[in-house]
Amino acid sequence: MQVEVLPSAVRNVVHSHRCGGRRIGLVPTMGALHVGHVSLMDAARRNCDFVIASIFVNPLQFGPNEDLERYPRSLEKDLQKCEAAGVDLVFTPQASQMYAPGAESEVRLTGLTRMLEGRHRPSHFDGVTTVVAKLFNITLPDQAYFGQKDYQQQLIIRRMVSDLDWGVEIVTCPIVREDDGLALSSRNRYLSPADRERSLVLFRALSLAQELAETASETPDSIARQMRQLFSDTDGVDLDYAVVVDCKTLELLTGRPECAVALIAARLGKTRLIDNQILRFR
Ligand code: PAJ
Repeated sequence: MQVEVLPSAVRNVVHSHRCGGRRIGLVPTMGALHVGHVSLMDAARRNCDFVIASIFVNPLQFGPNEDLERYPRSLEKDLQKCEAAGVDLVFTPQASQMYAPGAESEVRLTGLTRMLEGRHRPSHFDGVTTVVAKLFNITLPDQAYFGQKDYQQQLIIRRMVSDLDWGVEIVTCPIVREDDGLALSSRNRYLSPADRERSLVLFRALSLAQELAETASETPDSIARQMRQLFSDTDGVDLDYAVVVDCKTLELLTGRPECAVALIAARLGKTRLIDNQILRFR
């Protein structure tokens, strides 16, 4: 497995593989890798000839009061996990290389990025789209792998790729969960034992939402209300939002839709968790 820090070095490697007709897969990450990240690498390994993983804690997507400084960093362990997953090249750039002094360009979407997560984390998605655009330009992938765990993020990346005519196929992989239902996240390690216990309310609310969606009398609105009720009955969990929205536009819904998604964001102590579930209405 090759590890490169410089964009120019990655570009050279990619160039030779593209000339050889190889199919290139990219898995963008911020490191602190867990089984969820590895599931994206496994999928890329199955579908592509040359798999690139990027590890970069992107300062541009953190707000001024967020956890950039204390975001977990574990490069050595991460590289071992990449190697075990059969990754061919790991790109670990420095912030100074990704964002040269004097850089002025940014990629910004105007609609999907302003709702839900975007309301609670202003400019977060501008940082995500800008770094992902740069990663796409450096690695020129045929496919790029994202997790459904960050539902709004993968939708935004799909929008960006379509709007800007990138020939990258976006593959969204299922959410990997702990046995008790908590979605794996690099931030779970911050949870105190009491908060870890409380965190299960997210999965309980999503399971309730799915159960209710299968009941003919329930609507997106009534389901969202019952999810929120579950949170108001749980001490020590501050809900940012729990909604049932259109799975493509993230707009609120009336009636029983073809495709809906339940999305939740909640804070436990200093840790903010997000989770979601695509709902099948019967
Ligand atoms: P990060 O949080 O490291 O996540 C990298 C990828 O792993 C994302 O696509 C995310 O959705 C996926 N992922 C995280 N937890 C998962 C789980 N439990 N199951 C399945 N997939 C999971 O998301 C980012 O980094 C950044 O915003 C990034 C796209 C790298 C841009 O900086």
